[in-house]
Amino acid sequence: MDPFAVLGLDPDADDETIKRAYRQRAKKTHPDHGGSVTEFKRVRDAYEAIQAGEIDREGDHETGGFADDFGPDVPDPHAPDPEPDTEVTYLNYAVLAERGWSLEDDDLFEKAARADLADRNFGQFTVEGDQSLLEAAEASGHAWPFACRGGACANCAVAVTEGELSQLVDHILPDELTDQGIRLSCNGKPLTDSLEVVYNLEQRDDLADLKLPADRFNKARADD
Ligand code: FES
Repeated sequence: MDPFAVLGLDPDADDETIKRAYRQRAKKTHPDHGGSVTEFKRVRDAYEAIQAGEIDREGDHETGGFADDFGPDVPDPHAPDPEPDTEVTYLNYAVLAERGWSLEDDDLFEKAARADLADRNFGQFTVEGDQSLLEAAEASGHAWPFACRGGACANCAVAVTEGELSQLVDHILPDELTDQGIRLSCNGKPLTDSLEVVYNLEQRDDLADLKLPADRFNKARADD
């Protein structure tokens, strides 16, 4: 599909109209407001392609890049929406305490890559389609902390050091923590093609009051 059509625009729309349409569509489709990750990325990619000049407004599509992704001119109505994947690089917060590293270290992940850490402490996995970060970690064989899986605790908290992870509007984290890039992995979904996250933040003292006993929720699920 034509990226102008994704934003609901005519091909001759001026820059101000394009920006306004993008803001409105991005707000409407943003996962934090109940939208879908796939649709949000589609809107963002359409805007970036128009901004980058990858689309010929006369309808004569260039080769390569976004133009190919959206061509040919007539969309196949039966084609499934592309499911975006995200490559995640993770690091265990416990390693920071052991080695005297900090979340503020600019070279934190470079140091981790050189440190020959065990797979549970450092590595990569892929978030596929509409998975949350926690779901993808579990599907890759990892046992990351969680309790409620519903935004009501900080057991599943991660620090996002690169990329963007969605956040439900209704969640327990105070602004001072979200301003530091702390998100909930149980319902956070990647909004970028790659992510760097430090997981296991439940060990932090400033999250202690926001934690819930995990056993209670595990037992409740076992009794279902
Ligand atoms: Fe409670 Fe994620 S496990 S908010």
